Amino acid sequence: MTTTDLAERYSRRVALRHERLYGHGYQGPGSEAVFAELTSRLDLRPGLRLLDIGSGLGGDSFRLAERHGLTVVGLDAAPDMTAVCVERAAEQPLPGLSFVTGDVRGSQLLTPDSFDVLWTRDCGAFVPPADKLPAWRRLHAALRPGGQVLVTDYCLGPQGASAEFAAKMAAWGQYMLTPDAYGAMLGEAGFTDVAVEDRSRHLMDSMLAGRRLLLDEQEDFLAEMTREEYDGLLDRWDRKIGFCERGELVWMVLTARRAQS
Ligand SMILES: C[S@@+](CC[C@H](N)C(=O)[O-])C[C@H]1O[C@@H](n2cnc3c(N)ncnc32)[C@H](O)[C@@H]1O
Repeated sequence: MTTTDLAERYSRRVALRHERLYGHGYQGPGSEAVFAELTSRLDLRPGLRLLDIGSGLGGDSFRLAERHGLTVVGLDAAPDMTAVCVERAAEQPLPGLSFVTGDVRGSQLLTPDSFDVLWTRDCGAFVPPADKLPAWRRLHAALRPGGQVLVTDYCLGPQGASAEFAAKMAAWGQYMLTPDAYGAMLGEAGFTDVAVEDRSRHLMDSMLAGRRLLLDEQEDFLAEMTREEYDGLLDRWDRKIGFCERGELVWMVLTARRAQS
């Protein structure tokens, strides 16, 4: 997606609507259990400097700064996402937490050896194929030797995409890889100890909970949006659940490192 497309897709209005279904601060699986599982895969110590790439509404950035004492920079290409995070940070100031608007493909934040941890949740699928490897090479250079990486992302299932799935992914501006291809790309970018795991169950649980909320609180939703918008939201959730059930859509967790030297 271009930066202009991202600004539109992640406008304040759309993102706050999706946040109601995913949970406060999130545009994807954001339960306490998922957060705890992800952080348990890393060695997080107070004072480490973490870059949250595609930080969205900041759920992880706030939790990482507050609970793990990290210095966190949230980077997001959509200005509305950063603006919401800055407003929330003013209400809940945390030392060492900041948000910057910028595209990971060209951000000035990515200076050599400047972060201890790269953390990115459900952002990479938006990066077009030709830009993915160059972006990860830049990120590798920005990570200090020995630094850690955690990625969650939407991926293609092993049997490939149906015509319906391919058309929806194109419409939603997502360019997915299989988990194995994702891992191989990080290896090519220079990372070591690359491990990928299918955790689609987390995505399913989160989508099903959102769908239940949409149905249970239908009247509240319809007080805030048109019937067409409500039906569009339900259709989006139903399609994602269907793609996930059929194994076309996979939610992957990846960890990696930059070698010590
Ligand atoms: C699905 S949301 C996930 C947000 C957050 N990480 C979460 O888990 O709730 C993806 C986010 O990535 C951002 N994004 C997509 N492509 C980006 C890029 N090239 N550079 C920076 N941010 C990007 C979008 O603006 C959006 O806020």
